[in-house]
Amino acid sequence: VIWVGQLLAMLRSLLPPMLLSGLLSAPVSAAEFQLNDQCPPGFDKNAQGLCILYTLYDQYDSIEDAGVGGLTSSLPRRRDGFRPEQIDLGRYLFFDPLLSASGRLSCASCHHPALGFSDGLGRSVGAGGAQLSRSAPTLWNTAFLNSFFWDAREKTLELQLQGPLYNSREMANTPQQLLTSINASANYQSLFAEAFPPGDSFASAGTATLPQIYRAISAFESSLISLNSRYDRYAHGYHQALNTREIKGLNIFRSFVARCAECHQPPLFTNQQVAVIGTPEPPGMPLDVGAQTTYGSERLKGAFKVPTLRNIGQTAPYMHSGRFATLRDAVEFYTKGRGHAVPAGVVLELHWHINEPNLSELELDLLVDFLKTLRDEQFTPAIPSAVPSGLAPVGTLPASMSRAGLEQHNN
Ligand code: HEC
Ligand code: HEC
Repeated sequence: VIWVGQLLAMLRSLLPPMLLSGLLSAPVSAAEFQLNDQCPPGFDKNAQGLCILYTLYDQYDSIEDAGVGGLTSSLPRRRDGFRPEQIDLGRYLFFDPLLSASGRLSCASCHHPALGFSDGLGRSVGAGGAQLSRSAPTLWNTAFLNSFFWDAREKTLELQLQGPLYNSREMANTPQQLLTSINASANYQSLFAEAFPPGDSFASAGTATLPQIYRAISAFESSLISLNSRYDRYAHGYHQALNTREIKGLNIFRSFVARCAECHQPPLFTNQQVAVIGTPEPPGMPLDVGAQTTYGSERLKGAFKVPTLRNIGQTAPYMHSGRFATLRDAVEFYTKGRGHAVPAGVVLELHWHINEPNLSELELDLLVDFLKTLRDEQFTPAIPSAVPSGLAPVGTLPASMSRAGLEQHNN
């Protein structure tokens, strides 16, 4: 099986960046870049000119302790309140390979909108073709998360993004080089001035700053909201939004037999905790101790952050290092026996909700049917056709990669 992401990565390493940019993007002039002063869909502009998210979930009371799996639970605190211009500047930065040392990798190389903001790979590929040890999580609904990375090691989006930017195996940049290249671009200079006008708490005199770069990218990420799937319409009271099989799947998901909702708690489909569930590594990969490192606790050996399941049909393969090719395989893992995939001689303290649900083949199929209803990509932002650096925006899928191919990947 060749993943779509593998194809992308191969193409990336074959073509020199200059050739790519020469082929794919026309020469850029400053006038081409105008920041959107309207908030993205789902957001209202308040009197201060800031974008505030509204969702149907805001109608429900916070019920932190009122049990899990409830369809009308409210959402946790979210990041919003950014200027629309900051969100739009972040969109350009997100797709701009100028952010990497090689000029070849953008955030979108590993978090592509057409692949559920992941990359179709079990383990992502970074600078110079280096294969990383983990998979790229989706970026949908990161606005609500209180920790980042599979091992929950960062607490804010601003801190998180410095990981890939400066990791020698990922974008391999340095803070100094990043600032120099941004400020060498006349386009970016004017866009930063527009996004951070005098009076804005991040305003600076003349040149762009690192905190501005981090803020704009975080603002963009926080605009990626997916809360209007068929499941959501069902949750808000429109019973016909799901068919009988999907409703059965939802009921299994919420049942105390399967216990999925104990960890993948609606409406985000994560309780934002880390849990040891004992997933296997791909053949030949050593055991990843996960959050043990973050918290310095032996009990958390092999613990990973409970991932959201929103748009889960779009982000195969699954788990922290992509061991499972399909959603069906990922779901089946849970019913093969508690700890069945833990390597011999390794002691893991499995979470108590990992048990022996003995789900039937039919029940597994129904679970998969339900999970696919969590798809909502209506607020997918536009991929810029050109980016301010003049490099080729990473995001335009090569023509060889047809819609049909992607659809197949996504089903
Ligand atoms: C080379 C591929 C690659 C690039 C480039 C990349 N990422 Fe990632 N991203 C990953 C991988 C892999 C992880 C998970 C790493 C881990 O958990 O240790 C990740 C994790 C994340 C997370 C955490 C999500 C969560 O739910 O915990 C966010 C947010 C994120 N990336 C945003 C970005 C942004 C913004 C950029 C650009 C500045 C970027 N990434 C560039 C591969 C990449
Ligand atoms: C004890 C908490 C817990 C329970 C219960 C649980 N999960 Fe998970 N789930 C996790 C964690 C943690 C991960 C990530 C593990 C890893 O990457 O190794 C995960 C990963 C997944 C993934 C892959 C997500 C991705 O982005 O790769 C799917 C699909 C999934 N779970 C579905 C289910 C279903 C269906 C059930 C019920 C049968 C269930 N989970 C029960 C904690 C839980």
